[in-house]
Order: sequence, then structure tokens, then C-alpha cells
Amino acid sequence: MPFATAQRLAGFTESIIREMTRVANRYGAINLSQGFPDFDPPLELRKAAERALQGPYHQYAITWGQPEFREALAAKQSRFMGVPVDPDQHLVVTCGGTEAMLVALMTVCNPGDSVIIFSPFYENYGADTILAGARPIYVPLRPPQFDFDPEALQAAFAQRPKAIVVCNPSNPSGKVFTESELRFIGELAEQAGAFIITDEVYEHIVYPPHRHTYAAALPGLFNRTLTVGSLSKTYAITGWRLGFVLAAPEIISGARKVHDFLTVGAAHPLQVAAVTALRFDQSYYDQLARDYTARRELFIGYLQKAGLSFVEPQGAYYVLVDISEFGQPDDTQ
Ligand SMILES: Cc1ncc(COP(=O)(O)O)c(C=O)c1O
Repeated sequence: MPFATAQRLAGFTESIIREMTRVANRYGAINLSQGFPDFDPPLELRKAAERALQGPYHQYAITWGQPEFREALAAKQSRFMGVPVDPDQHLVVTCGGTEAMLVALMTVCNPGDSVIIFSPFYENYGADTILAGARPIYVPLRPPQFDFDPEALQAAFAQRPKAIVVCNPSNPSGKVFTESELRFIGELAEQAGAFIITDEVYEHIVYPPHRHTYAAALPGLFNRTLTVGSLSKTYAITGWRLGFVLAAPEIISGARKVHDFLTVGAAHPLQVAAVTALRFDQSYYDQLARDYTARRELFIGYLQKAGLSFVEPQGAYYVLVDISEFGQPDDTQ
């Protein structure tokens, strides 16, 4: 009998971003494609990892997160979000924001559901939606501000989606959603009975005067919002694979099940070590924002010198360059 792999795989390709990293490595090129820091995490954090490896943390942690880690994470997120976060009820610790997004979509979607995704989008969202058995509805973000057309969003919500994914700050456009945009999204989600899944892995990389607004902290939105977060970008530890879903207890109890069967849990010693990072004081986050602002200035200075047109990012660490003048049919060419 002939055999064939699952049809759902035909809906997406392997990651272009990670393919670009492999190509860059092959040719020794400077790799500007994949989002990871090219510097080490703080020494204090590396020392904490060394200590954790000497400790009794070599077996499975509690599947939804090592208790001290969840406590430190809840305290840190409460402080920044301005809402109480309960370490036992509001969190599932995952293998990065990557797993968190898939867990979030698998927790809310039934086969045949649809999910609104703003485009341009972080490529995982399309694949994750399909893996969760749902269908993406793409709504454009319009350059140069990367705002959305309210009517286009209303039309997408009229299709009764199960959820909307909001990447804020946004990869790859660098857009930071304003409070009024998020409130508008919240109203439409409420009318449609849809969940809001917000990917906030760049919550601490925002360029003044722009400010990060936590969707879950807006009035009335906590109960329908699944916040996807990560330690990858904030503490320069993309290889540690530590992320989380933060949501209301009824959602979290479902998300815990999905996570348990997907991966069981994130690395136990690294959760223990990362408590050190989660306890950093405000000066760490101020310095992070200053350092990334300086890097942004440096990089866009080179783009200006090269005569390339681009959109200045409001947050995250991506710059979208306009290559239409090169006369190629698409960016892969
Ligand atoms: C928007 C966004 N979400 C999630 C991730 C993945 O983060 P993690 O390393 O926590 O899986 C990335 C990585 O580039 C990203 O850009």
C-alpha cells in the first residue's frame, strides 16, 4: 500500500528564517535574519545556571513550571502588567514562546475554526494555526505605520473567528500596538466571542516614545486573553527555551494539558537558574532598552548610508527594508 504523510503539512513550509541561518552559516555571512542576540546573557545568570546544574534539579520539574520559577515570573509579570498574577493559577511554563503559541492555539481552537493573523506576521503563526486544525484569516498591517484598516478587521471578525493573534511589539514590522488599537481589537473580540492571543516576547524591547501595552491588563480583557511570553529575548537566552502562557485559570487548566502532552516541561535546572533573571530590578530593563535603542540607531544609520528605504521600528529588533526598487519578483529571489 502507498503511504503519505499528513495533508496538513502541505499548508506550510519549513521555516524560512531558520533556513536563512543555515545558509548564512554555510557561507560565513553576517546573519541578520534570525532574531537572537549576538552577545552573552548577564554573568550573574550564567553563574546561576552553573549552580543549578550542581543542584538536585536533574529530573522532571512539575509539568506546568518549577514553583520558584513560577513565583518569580508571576511577581515580575504582575509588576510590569499591573494586574495580579497567581503563580498557581495563571501560568504554564513552556519550552519557549514557540511552544506557548502552539499550546495557546491548541487550547482554544477546534478543527475547522479560523484565526485572525495580522500580516506581515511572524512565520510560526501560520504553521501553528494549521497544526491546531484551524485556518488563518490574514488582515494586512499597512506600511509605513503598520496600522490596520478598522473595516478590514471588522470584516474578518464577521467571519466568526475563534481567536486573533496580536504580536506586540511586532515581528517583523516593529509595530507597537497602541492602547486604543488594542481596546478596539478587544471590543471586536468580545462581540465575536473570540479569544485574543498576544505574543509579547518583545515586551521589554520598545523604543521611546512608544510604550508597551499589555492587552490582558486592559479593562475586561484578562479573561479572554492568552499572553504568550518568553525569557529568550529579554535575557538573551534564546537557547534556554523558557517561555510561558499567562491566562485566566479556566484557560490555563486546558493549556496545562496540552503542554503536558506536547513536551512535559521546560528544562528543570534552567528554570531554577532563571529565577535570578526574573528578580533583576528595573535598572536591567532600562539598560536593555537603552542598548537596543543604540543598536537600532547604529543599524538604521548603515541602511541610510546604503540608500535603502526602510521603516523605523517602534519595538522588537527587526527592520523591514523596502527592496521593491531591486526589481525582483519577491524577497526570496
Ligand atoms: C514574535 C516572536 N514570538 C516568539 C518567538 C520565539 O521565541 P522563543 O525563543 O521564546 O521560542 C520569536 C523568535 O524570534 C518571535 O520573534
